[in-house]
Amino acid sequence: MKHSDLLNSLPPYPFAKLESLISQKRQEGVDLISFGIGDPDLKTPNFINDALIEGLSIPGNHNYSSSAGEKSFRDSISIWFEKRFNVSIDPDEEICALIGSKEGLAHIFRAFFNSGDTIAVPNPGYPLYEHGGTILNDFKPAIINLSAESNYIPQSNQLQETNFSGIYLNYPNNPTGAIIQLSELNNIVNICNDKKSIIVYDNAYSEITYGGYSAPSILQCENARQNSIEFHSLSKTFNMTGYRIGFAVGNKSLIDGLKKIKNQIDSGSPKFIQHAATTALESYSNGKPPKEILDNIETYENRMSLLYNGLLKLGYDVKMPSGTFYLWMKIDESCESFAMNLLDQGIVVTPGSGFGNEGDNYVRFSLTVSESDISKALEKIPPR
Ligand SMILES: Cc1ncc(COP(=O)(O)O)c(C=O)c1O
Repeated sequence: MKHSDLLNSLPPYPFAKLESLISQKRQEGVDLISFGIGDPDLKTPNFINDALIEGLSIPGNHNYSSSAGEKSFRDSISIWFEKRFNVSIDPDEEICALIGSKEGLAHIFRAFFNSGDTIAVPNPGYPLYEHGGTILNDFKPAIINLSAESNYIPQSNQLQETNFSGIYLNYPNNPTGAIIQLSELNNIVNICNDKKSIIVYDNAYSEITYGGYSAPSILQCENARQNSIEFHSLSKTFNMTGYRIGFAVGNKSLIDGLKKIKNQIDSGSPKFIQHAATTALESYSNGKPPKEILDNIETYENRMSLLYNGLLKLGYDVKMPSGTFYLWMKIDESCESFAMNLLDQGIVVTPGSGFGNEGDNYVRFSLTVSESDISKALEKIPPR
């Protein structure tokens, strides 16, 4: 069957060869240590799983929800947002529930732009921005190159000199672990307002931060409500990737457009999942996560410092991130050949090129691996 021109216009999948080698090794029974995909190995807290079971037994919870989400879930989001970011959000007009944040990120611009309109996408960046969110919707990507020297933050002149109608931004950042300060966000909001550009701010890792850093919401910026929509996910914070639940908050017309698109293509996240997600958000007390989540963050931080210090000793160029569970490491050769060589040692890492060509000389480690496996891996990684 012939694929559409849009599907064919996506760049070739960069990991095809690596992935087939990984599955071949697994079939041969080789025990791989996988720093590959960003899917937490830690468990969903029991109180959330219990809420899911409770949610299943509530009469009516087997019926369709709505694309916007249940009122009780939207209310819990509004309360969480106020406590966590000190920003008040109208649960009826400024929130939309999502079947995982990925679907919302992929659909949002369809409500506002036409074929051929331009979306700015960061390079390196989460691949969905350029592919599912831009090319597959028949928009044109305008690549914004991000560099280590500028802490992976777009510079004012880059934004001013590039033509775009919408932009994807993501801090704490996948794949680099970069974070942003509120003053830097303010500057970006003002530049994009001047350009009349919509900002899609992906805050999927807002809760996974270290060393006293607390990630801001873009909606804390004075002028953000004019042009911004922020996406959140319960996947990483609460180890709920497979539950598929997230939400968008922000400018009323942006939320309204998203709801209208979703009305045409889905019928909402299951009610019992929203019930569990409501319990998850309600577990925060005065904007602070419950013990289960603090323990998880401590686990990631310990893993991160073990890997970071180990790689540093091996002579690699790494920086200890203040957010996400990713370590982004510079290497001196092509990332594919580096990853292939590590695979021969039984270690899986993600080649940086999968996040754009600025990642050609980088690999990403996902810290979804136990400390004992990190130590084992460090014994096998060749010194620089
Ligand atoms: C930056 C970023 N945004 C969004 C997502 C999607 O998360 P969800 O599980 O909510 O769809 C991911 C998942 O890896 C991610 O890394």
